[in-house]
Amino acid sequence: MKAIEIRNKYLNFFKNHNHAVIPSAPLIPENDPSVLFTTAGMQPLVPYLLGQKHPAGNRLTDYQKCVRTNDIDEVGDNRHLTYFEMLGNWSLGDYFKEESIAMSYEFLTKELGIPSEKISVTCFAGDDDCERDNLAAECWKKAGIPEERIYFFGKDDNWWIAGEEGPCGPDTEMFYDTGKPKCSPECNPSCGCGKYVEIWNNVFMEFYKDKNGYRKLEQQNVDTGLGLERMAMLLQKKETPFEIEIFAPVMEKLEELQKVDNIQSRRIVAEHLRSSIMIINDGGRPSNVDRGYILRRLLRRMTRHMNKLEIDLDKLGEIIDISIDSLKELYPELINNRDSIKQTIIAEKDKFIKTLKNGEREFDKVANRAKAEGKDTIEAQVVFNLYETYGFPPEMTEELAKEQGLKVDMKNYQKLFEEHQAKSRMGSEAKFKGGLASTGEIETKYHTATHLLNAALKQVLGDHVHQKGSNITTERMRFDFSHGAKMTDEEKQKTEDLVNEYIKQDLPVEKMEMKKEDALKLGAEAMFLDKYGDEVTVYKIGDVSLELCGGPHVKRTGELGTFKIQKEEASSAGVRRIKAVLL
Ligand code: SER
Repeated sequence: MKAIEIRNKYLNFFKNHNHAVIPSAPLIPENDPSVLFTTAGMQPLVPYLLGQKHPAGNRLTDYQKCVRTNDIDEVGDNRHLTYFEMLGNWSLGDYFKEESIAMSYEFLTKELGIPSEKISVTCFAGDDDCERDNLAAECWKKAGIPEERIYFFGKDDNWWIAGEEGPCGPDTEMFYDTGKPKCSPECNPSCGCGKYVEIWNNVFMEFYKDKNGYRKLEQQNVDTGLGLERMAMLLQKKETPFEIEIFAPVMEKLEELQKVDNIQSRRIVAEHLRSSIMIINDGGRPSNVDRGYILRRLLRRMTRHMNKLEIDLDKLGEIIDISIDSLKELYPELINNRDSIKQTIIAEKDKFIKTLKNGEREFDKVANRAKAEGKDTIEAQVVFNLYETYGFPPEMTEELAKEQGLKVDMKNYQKLFEEHQAKSRMGSEAKFKGGLASTGEIETKYHTATHLLNAALKQVLGDHVHQKGSNITTERMRFDFSHGAKMTDEEKQKTEDLVNEYIKQDLPVEKMEMKKEDALKLGAEAMFLDKYGDEVTVYKIGDVSLELCGGPHVKRTGELGTFKIQKEEASSAGVRRIKAVLL
């Protein structure tokens, strides 16, 4: 079933159940500078969820264009998208759990024809703020889901709120069983291994959260969201959204034009192009601030990956046309905006190419100087300067150097890059996060917290725990580590307490330089051994942590504040992911 058919079926179904079909709000929220883009169908409806009367009534349905960019770096894998469409239906103080669940079940099984046995559901397990959602589970049983496919989880999985403050509540989520084998005996819908794919989320919004905690709203609302691309992918029996009709023609064209094969790059080009088209269609323009900066980042990343695929950049217009043609049935307004969208994207690409050209000119100077001095290697600092000042990608420096018979000190470049990474990322992020951080202090704290978390996890779970990845923004840290099972609530609490204990002890953070082999003898942790040269920097935190790392770090752990785990989930097979914040 094509995406457009799914959308039409959805809107018709809810229309037949007395819902008014309302138009999608623009991607760029009207009169709301606090958010960059519309990220969920409920966002434009907040005043009505809080009690204001909606002119179209108290049963609504729509499709909503959404952009979420917090996972932008993960696009290229088999599932992340920065733009997606969310189908939604709302009760503004009208029906509640029973009717909502009955309609969802009917739509999935009757309209979309999904066999009942493919559906599993999750409900809220209950805590001090809100009771266990036995009612939702009862409704599912009544609808036709047997008890063994009804799961209960806590706030991490079955509670929905946009951000920190606002209307919220327990949710019930529907999962499609792909039929893949369970990744472990405990494998269930909250596991991210890919067996279960979340398809729909019904939020029972009867609470409001602010700094003082939760209070009941005057009315009981329902807010649901169903991801269109994901549903199309499942119904078309595809493994990734890049194989459905929205992306397939562009993906094929890229494959035809490429001289170097790289599926991640093709996905990044197709995905970022679509998001850019949709943002520009709703009035966005590239710039150096806020939304414009996100658009610029999307377009630059797209251009870089076209270069990686060695696609002739003059073909960009053709590729844009194919993308718009694949989208115009869903968004007919693209047809009228086609020319201005194309112009905007191509102009931005040209600007970026100029940046790259300036970098090349600078590179030539550097290369000539190196040769004149009789050197055969370009120093790490020079590679770094080209990147910092000219936005010139290091892999291009390496490539050009090779052409001139020069080597590049990439090992030390990597070290320099890591040292400066926190700071350079801060520059852009602080800007669109309302100037929360302007010195990189926050990232530095999170960086140190990463080491403490790594150490605490080893204490609580065992020595098999090793860091598999991490990602830090001004707002949170993310930490991936090797561990085979979902952490229990008790393990999470112990880990959190231990990190806070380390913070309370105000341990000194010492930086030491030593030979790699000595560091390893001392038992230092190292994520990518090969990345480092023979001389390494090691950070020692009291007696609890010793890790190879470029830094930067705080001087004492007491500076970190309070550590809080927000979420623990599967990342990939055998790898778990923790999201945490410092308060
Ligand atoms: N607001 C919920 C979500 O984004 C349901 O629409 O998943």
